[in-house]
Amino acid sequence: MSESIGGWKRSCLCGEVTEGMIGQELTLMGWCHKQRDLGGLTFITLRDIAGEVQIVADHDSPDEARKKATAARGEYVLAARGTLRKRSAVNPDMKTGTVELHVNELRILSESETPPFYIEESTDVNESLRLKYRYLDLRRPDMQRKMLARHRITKITRDFFDREGFIDVETPILIKSTPEGARDYLVPPRVFPGRFFALPQSPQLYKQLLMLAGYNKYMQIARCFRDEDLRADRQPEFTQIDIEMAFVDEEDVLEINERYLATLMREFLDIEISLPIRRLTWREAMARFGTDKPDLRFGMEIADLGEAADKTDFRVFKDVLAQGGLVAGLTVPQGNSMSRRELDDLAAFVKRETKAKGLVWLSLAEDGSSRGSAAKFCQADFVGDALALAGGDGESQLLIVADADRETALEALGELRLEVARRRGLIPEGQFEFCWVTEFPLLERSAETGRYVAKHHPFTSPMEEDLDLLDTDPGQARARAYDMVLNGTELGGGSIRIHRQDLQRKLFSILGFTEEEAQEQFGFLLSAFKYGVPPHGGLAYGLDRIVMLLTGEDSIREVIAFPKVQTSASLMTGAPYFVAPKQLDELGLTITAGQETDPTDGKET
Ligand code: AMO
Repeated sequence: MSESIGGWKRSCLCGEVTEGMIGQELTLMGWCHKQRDLGGLTFITLRDIAGEVQIVADHDSPDEARKKATAARGEYVLAARGTLRKRSAVNPDMKTGTVELHVNELRILSESETPPFYIEESTDVNESLRLKYRYLDLRRPDMQRKMLARHRITKITRDFFDREGFIDVETPILIKSTPEGARDYLVPPRVFPGRFFALPQSPQLYKQLLMLAGYNKYMQIARCFRDEDLRADRQPEFTQIDIEMAFVDEEDVLEINERYLATLMREFLDIEISLPIRRLTWREAMARFGTDKPDLRFGMEIADLGEAADKTDFRVFKDVLAQGGLVAGLTVPQGNSMSRRELDDLAAFVKRETKAKGLVWLSLAEDGSSRGSAAKFCQADFVGDALALAGGDGESQLLIVADADRETALEALGELRLEVARRRGLIPEGQFEFCWVTEFPLLERSAETGRYVAKHHPFTSPMEEDLDLLDTDPGQARARAYDMVLNGTELGGGSIRIHRQDLQRKLFSILGFTEEEAQEQFGFLLSAFKYGVPPHGGLAYGLDRIVMLLTGEDSIREVIAFPKVQTSASLMTGAPYFVAPKQLDELGLTITAGQETDPTDGKET
């Protein structure tokens, strides 16, 4: 039976009890982590967000208290009052392990059924079960630490931007669609049947309007919604640290953000990062790392082997080069002892996970001859040259991809580089390598329609020196866009925006919008831009991703209190869920698609 708190107040949190309090009368409250009943002597570990403390009921405790201690079970909520004393058997693994509370009075505030899993520091319980009972999972000290870390990171962020004069302005959640490239979540309003609000994919247009309205520096911790395929670093609703500044160019935005990241690393992890942060152009990042989010914690850079490859008798290389393609490779340090099986596995990985057709591997045998999948056609002098070009030595394994499409070859090598490093344990833990990737292409071709689409968004400014290309070869134009990358993850991205109406119009026309379409979609922005727009730019970080990387996690689900699973469903609430026919009627909606699938059925997270 549950008792009331009866006016008791906690003296401190369980984990805050110290030896200095020995002899004091304390009132403590928390969850029963463990109860051991030795007959007349009962030990309870009481847990709260600050930690654990042992409480003990023995023959000196009143009968009533002893009875309740005996009755207590795991996850019961208890209030204990007694005297703190030195513990005879010290527990060195517990922060409060030298003391215990000798119980005078005990209240059972709430009972608990046996939980579906133990509330332990670490758990090997499967993730679906954890997410179904997330409130219990969140009770685990490990999760509580991550939530506190998130709070701390958010606080450091807010304080930094506040000190720098940024103003926090809330922007609406029910909006007209924002063009971030993903699918919108739609919300039907009752008063306008057939029309929809969209949930913001980001506050992009609003923050630009705030610049136009004279707010100078804006920062918001903003919730964003994107109906896209989920991955470990993607959720349908996630949080951005969203920033915009007026009267700036790239250097101003990058400079303040470097100081922000340095402050965050110092205050959160006590790590000094050296400034300025490295910069790579997009082209360089692609050529050297095969990706626009390079992991710089290890080497194994990609090298163009075209010249050397052209001198071999290998048809595969020669054909690719003749088609204007790329023969490129990387070296695995100490990799010449890799087994045939390991190499076959990597070749299978390339075929399965990338668009490239295959993998060539070569190394030098002890007698100096070439060895590997194409040794017949590639002699030792080529292998030697290629190893030197790719920064390897006689003990390295050379991995080569050739493809008529340069980007295909580079992306395959980029994936391979990460895979090899992961498999061979070449990625150092606890190291943080930040870099900016700049000069992104302004446009890319849509895989669906073949039309140009903005790589960042349609308000991103082209680079001044590439303005002419907009008329001649828009696909080659570079953007004033930048991404912040940490250890191979895109933490954030942004750009200097277009603030000239003529340029904006031109971009819309390259993107295939008619004047009317542009007007219909972004009319309010275009109208606003008639009234004096300061040059402006900004960026947005994924807060979830920052917390994930700074707490050493692999998935943002670990740092979001109530995340969704792969299917976008909430295993805890069962959302998305049906609504009553009356609600649909009010909204003027009829459901035509089948409603058979249970979104929480998919056990995959
Ligand atoms: P972008 O679309 O690059 O830019 O998003 C900025 C950052 O938000 C994070 N992010 C996500 N995190 C978790 N789940 C998702 N589904 C998800 N999508 C994005 C990433 C990403 O780097 N308005 C522009 C910013 C700007 O130009 O100022 C924008 O939203 O960390």
